[in-house]
Amino acid sequence: MRDLAITIFTILTLILFTERSAVSQDTAGAEVTWDQVKPVFQKRCFACHRGEQSRGGLDLSTVGGIKAGSTSGAAVVSGKPEESMIYTLPAHLEDPQMPPNGAKLPQRELDLIFGWIHGGLSERVTAATAPSSKPIRPAMNRPRPRIAAPATAKTEIASLPMAEVQAALMDISATKTLVTTARPLKHVVTAVATSPTASLVAVAGHREVMIYQWTDQSLVTTVPFSPGDVFTLRFSRDGNILLVGGGIGGTSGKAAGFDVATGSTLFEVGSESDVVLAADLSPNGRFVALGGPSRTVRVFDTISGDKVAEMKKHTDWVLSLAFSNDGLLLASGDRFGSLQIWEADSGNPFHTLRGHSGAIHGLVWSADSNTVMSVSEDATVREWDLHQGRQLRLLREEIGGLLATDATAAGSFIVGGRGGKLAVWQKPDHRLREISMDDEVTDLAITQDGTHVIAADVTGNVRLFNLESGIEAGQFVLP
Ligand code: HEC
Repeated sequence: MRDLAITIFTILTLILFTERSAVSQDTAGAEVTWDQVKPVFQKRCFACHRGEQSRGGLDLSTVGGIKAGSTSGAAVVSGKPEESMIYTLPAHLEDPQMPPNGAKLPQRELDLIFGWIHGGLSERVTAATAPSSKPIRPAMNRPRPRIAAPATAKTEIASLPMAEVQAALMDISATKTLVTTARPLKHVVTAVATSPTASLVAVAGHREVMIYQWTDQSLVTTVPFSPGDVFTLRFSRDGNILLVGGGIGGTSGKAAGFDVATGSTLFEVGSESDVVLAADLSPNGRFVALGGPSRTVRVFDTISGDKVAEMKKHTDWVLSLAFSNDGLLLASGDRFGSLQIWEADSGNPFHTLRGHSGAIHGLVWSADSNTVMSVSEDATVREWDLHQGRQLRLLREEIGGLLATDATAAGSFIVGGRGGKLAVWQKPDHRLREISMDDEVTDLAITQDGTHVIAADVTGNVRLFNLESGIEAGQFVLP
């Protein structure tokens, strides 16, 4: 069955690519248009250059924004790429290099930017992307799993312009999903969290959260999350409140607390201009901290709903947040790899902890609140001493970039990552075992009794594993 699916997939891919190559030949030598160059800026620059909070005052998300330039002047000279900062900075011909601290853009993307400026900043829509009589594929408004195109398609991809590659990948990914799964468009599970006091696990669904009994994987209840897509889940330390954070990309973000017993909404805080990617409840349940692409950490009082602190030291998206167990400190990690520690009540900076060179996706405090552990896409786990503000321990993880973690009260922990694997560590430094998932691990949580882990991957599988044996003990069926 799997072989058949792959064959169908390959055939479809070939058809798709033949079609696309024909299109690209038709348009060869033609001007580069905005819809072709926009995906490059989107992928490489929008994180810092989109909308009102753009760095250097330069908004690269619209042609108007590009023409308006940066705070220091023009960013583009039509027809003259070599005099245009939006080309010379990413091409590393001038300083500051863009993106800052990042690798130089691939040549074909630079060629697109060059061609677009050279051709006079065309806003026309190309034939390749113009609406056509072809059936429109279902929109996928959530993160799409990255997939590796088969070898036959890869060489084709290399010779296509970026915009077409993106379009093709979207097509492949939609096609693949339709071909290989019975249910169309399986949902990417962005977050899972376990109750610290009961045998419950919360799993992020599409604008809702499913709560299961993990012991028999039965669905207990479903809680709707009206603010949008769910990006983060956390139970309160007494297990009574489920904190849900999320929103609508580029538009709005909120965090809401639900009564686990009744499913009713207890509070809703934040009126962010982008999604909430990280959130935590203080140990006494009184405060909620949240963060996201705004790079600002905000703390709200759950009773009054008021904002009580706002912390602005992060230079990139805030991806992880955790209050210490004594409630005195708050740790926040960002996509750039910087880790900030704040005084929870005042919001005053306490420590800036430097070491990670990749996004920080997980934070866990020690039971006594003396240390915090951070896991990062740089494939390391670090433990930090909060009294002295220095790194205590560094573990290099073989499974690659780390995207999720959880720990037991006794200090054992699990990490999961890009390579589709989980690694189980027992205190202090014993790597017990590795567990394989189907794909990139999006989140994981250890059960309240410390015997099992529940992990989700980008293909939408949510699986239960016994930690002692490493053997799969069940799967969660999503509605
Ligand atoms: C991680 C954040 C980040 C990313 C990603 C990024 N930039 Fe920037 N960019 C900045 C910052 C910060 C400044 C302001 C630098 C300064 O004023 O010294 C800036 C400034 C600029 C400027 C104006 C420089 C000036 O002196 O006026 C241009 C042009 C620019 N960026 C282009 C780009 C392009 C093109 C990309 C994508 C290929 C990109 N940037 C990606 C952070 C970023």
